[in-house]
Amino acid sequence: MHEKSIALLNHAVADELAAVHQYMYFHFHLDDQGYDALASLFKRTAIMEMGHVEILAERILFLKGEVEMKAAGEVQKVTDVKEILKLARDMEDASAKDYNAKAKICAENADSATKKIFENLVGDEEKHFDQFDKEVGKIETFGDRYLALQSIDGGKSEASAD
Ligand SMILES: [Fe+2]
Ligand SMILES: [Fe+2]
Repeated sequence: MHEKSIALLNHAVADELAAVHQYMYFHFHLDDQGYDALASLFKRTAIMEMGHVEILAERILFLKGEVEMKAAGEVQKVTDVKEILKLARDMEDASAKDYNAKAKICAENADSATKKIFENLVGDEEKHFDQFDKEVGKIETFGDRYLALQSIDGGKSEASAD
């Protein structure tokens, strides 16, 4: 009866796991390049995506399904800071659109509770989109001077955010 919702939820788990892997990969590389503040941002966001996996998994188990825990894809080996932020922005945009579509399907299947979960995730992914979009915007406006500040600022944020 809930097979369709379970499939949608597992598809979302796969996307969230891929995001966790990708963002931790970005975290390691940005940290290595000295962009401490951006490295922290990716670590915090990866942890939020892990929280999304948990929300989705709980719903799957409630519906008596099994959580597949398979990442949707391999990590993309992107290490340039500007390209990282653009890719992350695009991933969040795609997630928000995908969850909107999934919420719509749940509504058609009269599964309001799963629909609500997807709607809440849309809100989170839109916030993630916004934070990465702002970083892309600042780099485009201020260029390398802004990026230089990212590494200087990192010393401060490390104690509080890491
Ligand atoms: Fe997410
Ligand atoms: Fe996200």
